Formats: sequence, structure tokens, C-alpha cells
Amino acid sequence: MDFSTKLASAETAKADCVAVGIYADGDLTPAARRIDLASKGAVRAAIKSGDATGKRGTTLLLRALAGVAAPRVLLVGLGKREEFGDKAFGEAVRAAAKGAGAGTRELAIAATDWVVKAGNGARDGAWQARQLAIAARETVFRSDELKSKKDDNSTGPAHVQLLLEKRDAAVERGLKEGVAIANGMALTKRLGNLPPNVCTPTFLGEQARKLGKEFKLGVDVFDRRQIEKLGMGSFLAVTRGSAEPPRLIVLKYNGAGKAAPIALVGKGITFDSGGISLKPGANMDEMKFDMCGAASVLGAIRAAAEMKLKLNVVGVIAACENLPSGTATKPGDIVTSMSGQTIEVLNTDAEGRLILCDALTYVERFKPAAVIDIATLTGACVVALGDVNTGLFATDEELAGELLKAAKNAVDPAWRMPVEDDYQDQIKSNFADMANIGMPGKAGAVIAACFLARFTKAYKWAHLDIAGTAWKSGAAKGATGRPVPLLAQFLMERAA
Ligand code: BES
Ligand code: MN
Ligand code: ZN
Repeated sequence: MDFSTKLASAETAKADCVAVGIYADGDLTPAARRIDLASKGAVRAAIKSGDATGKRGTTLLLRALAGVAAPRVLLVGLGKREEFGDKAFGEAVRAAAKGAGAGTRELAIAATDWVVKAGNGARDGAWQARQLAIAARETVFRSDELKSKKDDNSTGPAHVQLLLEKRDAAVERGLKEGVAIANGMALTKRLGNLPPNVCTPTFLGEQARKLGKEFKLGVDVFDRRQIEKLGMGSFLAVTRGSAEPPRLIVLKYNGAGKAAPIALVGKGITFDSGGISLKPGANMDEMKFDMCGAASVLGAIRAAAEMKLKLNVVGVIAACENLPSGTATKPGDIVTSMSGQTIEVLNTDAEGRLILCDALTYVERFKPAAVIDIATLTGACVVALGDVNTGLFATDEELAGELLKAAKNAVDPAWRMPVEDDYQDQIKSNFADMANIGMPGKAGAVIAACFLARFTKAYKWAHLDIAGTAWKSGAAKGATGRPVPLLAQFLMERAA
């Protein structure tokens, strides 16, 4: 699905379908009013008949209206005007893309006159264009790479025109940004959804190389020997039980000369069985998603590179499998991290922190302006925040504030959680500098963050626990592409 802006009013737009908004109280958006006028009352008649309600999420397709250039008009329900906010906008765009009719390849959408409430004001056109592209793309994402019969995509909108009354460079730019973010999310979703026998650490390394070629990124992929040379004893402890070789993947996007980079560090466990501390069997397949942090690093860098953001980004991904075997790390084993700190592995299922701590030490060499790690780190974060908010942990107030603001703007919500020394007692060990777990049932997501904090003293750091937000279970099982929008927005604001 591609996007363009188009200077035309709703009734003259040349497309297979033109989508206009109507409110739940029978109120029309300016574009809907124009269609109504041109068609001598077809919109009001549809409302009067009860066919069009204007309710949030509903659509009504009208055909062959006199006085309207497009053969179809889609009335998109926006709900109550005073309740039309960020989420409603995305919903309305998705409803429009889905409701435009199978015969519609070219969809014109008059979405800039949908006033999106934000605090006391309204979202601007650039925001709307960005969110339009992201939301519309979500409706055409498919995971049929490994199906012998591909999903049918020969019907429905393939081209989306955003109708404008006058040229607007900011809207133009917003649309491009939205496409870049949607492309980043699609990459993250694809990698997340691929099965663990395909999406291995080696495969992630190859994907990074491919991305590097496409966007002229610097890419290094380190193998086991090189990881050993770096002294990453904690990372290596996790990969010990697996026959699949580990990878440390480094990507560099250079958009601002010698400026200090933002470092994004991703958890890339391509399958988490728990190791010797084996997980229960039910839904264990979902632990293929344990590399979604890594996938979001690739997605965010892809978005930044496509937007040609004027900043530098370093992505570092620690990728391996966590499996039990005769050579696997055992509960009680003590390992030495790259930082020199020793760790007693009391539970091999708390493996994310073990690979991340070494990656976090590794990024010191880049003298980063800020470091953000992204990880499906704890089940406890899912208990705390569900699938709504990503858990945000930060030792730097300013960075935390920037990330919360980016989350709001990107409609990719995050909620701040504490990182405080009072929690550190839980991971005291009698035999090593620290243990890798605290007390069962006590602030597990915070403990994991406090463990990581011990490796991040050299820079400004934040941690995103995406265990609840990176994928969906059940009938809609699949990666969500979060938190690519948040990360991309943060990078955009840093680059501005
Ligand atoms: N990858 C899991 C976290 C996870 C669990 C994400 C469920 C999404 C859903 C992580 O490696 C893990 O197993 N964490 C343990 C930590 C515990 C042993 C301290 C957990 O959350 O149970
Ligand atoms: Mn685990
Ligand atoms: Zn894990």
C-alpha cells in the first residue's frame, strides 16, 4: 500500500472511493458536507434512514452518487466529536481502509478535516498524515511467507490519497515519516512472527546485513569466538545449551557526522525455553517472540534511515537461543560478565538480563548520548501493565520525560516504573556480586531493571520492558511492531 497527497475536494477527487467522516450526532465533517451538497443530500438521507450512524468504527459504502466524481463514497463513523482523540483517529483510518470495498484500489481519504483532540488543542496535519499511513498499513500486513497458498491481496485499497485543500509541506513530510515508521514496524512484525527454526541468531545477523546494504549502514556481526574475545561470559552462559551459534550484531546509522550516537540495545532470544529452569509446555511457542526487542531495534533503525534523520544511531543486538542440554548453564553456576561483575545464575529462565548486561557494557565504547534497551524481559511486567503500556524504566529524568512524550505522540503508550536502590537487596548473592533473580512475586519487572542498572553507570540509560506489548496471543496471535513508533518518534524529536 502506497500513499500520496492530492489537491482535490471530496466531490471532485478521482479515485475508486472517497472516504469522508461523519460524527455520531449527525454532524458532518467539511468534506462530508461537500459530498452532501454535490449529491443533493445523499449523506443526510443515509443518516436519516438510519443506515449511517456515525458511530465509532462503523462505515457505510454508497455507490454512484450524482455530482460526485468517485463511483463510491465511504461514510466513516468518527463517534462523538468531543471524544475524537488519538485512538479514535487510528480506528477510523483502519475502518476506512477495510470498508472501502473490494473493488477499490485507489482510496481518497479526506482525513485532515477530522479534528483530533489532544489536551486543550488538536493534532496537526503532519501528525494526522503520519498516523494515517501507520494505521492504514496495519490493515494490509500479512504473515503468509510460509504458507503455500498466499493470502489474497488482489482486492481492496493499494493506493491511498490524502486529500488536501492546499499544498502543505509538513503534511507531505508527515506522510513520508508515517510510511517509514510503517515499514519499520512491518520488518519488526515479520521477524517476530517468523518461526524460531527460521529466525535464528544467524538469520538475524543476515537480516541486519541486508538492512545495512539497503540503507548504507555499517554492520558488524560477531560470532562465538569474537564474543568470547570480548569477554561476554554472561551472554555466553545463555547460549551454552544450544547448538545454534550466537551472534552479537552491531548496526550504525550515520546521519550527523561525529555527534554522539543514541544506542539501541535489543534482546534477541530467538527461542526461550527457560533452559534448565524449563518453562511449562503451554503456549511455549510464543517464546519465539523473545527476540522482539532485537526486531524493534532493526525496525527503528530502518525507520530512522528511511527518514534520513540527522542523528547517529548504534543498534546492538545480542542474539542466541535459551535451551536445556548437557552443556547448558545450571542453576547455581556463577559467570563473569564483560564488566567484570560476577553473577550467580539462580534461574536460567532469567536469561534476558544475562545477555543484555554484556551488550550494555559493550555500548560504552560508543560514548553514547543515551542508551535505550528494549526487551521482552519479564512476565511480571505483563502482570503489572498488561498489553496496554510498555514498562519504562530510567535512571535519567530527562530521558524518561522524552520517552514518555514520544510514547504519547506516537500513540504507543508507556508507563514509568521505578529503578531504585532499595530494590537492590533482593539480588544479593552469598557467592557472587549478584544473583540473576530476586524473590518470587516481588516486583519482578523492577528487579530485572535494577539488575540491568548495575551495568549502565557510564551513560544515560532507559529500559523498555515490552513483554506485554510486543505481541498478541489468541486468535490475533502475532507481533505488534511495538515499540517501533515510540522509538522512531523519540529519534525524530532528538534529530529535530
Ligand atoms: N522471556 C521471558 C519473559 C516473558 C514471559 C515475556 C512471559 C512474555 C511473557 C523471560 O526470559 C523470563 O522467562 N523471565 C522470567 C524471569 C523470572 C525467572 C525471574 C519470568 O518473567 O518468569
Ligand atoms: Mn526466560
Ligand atoms: Zn526470555
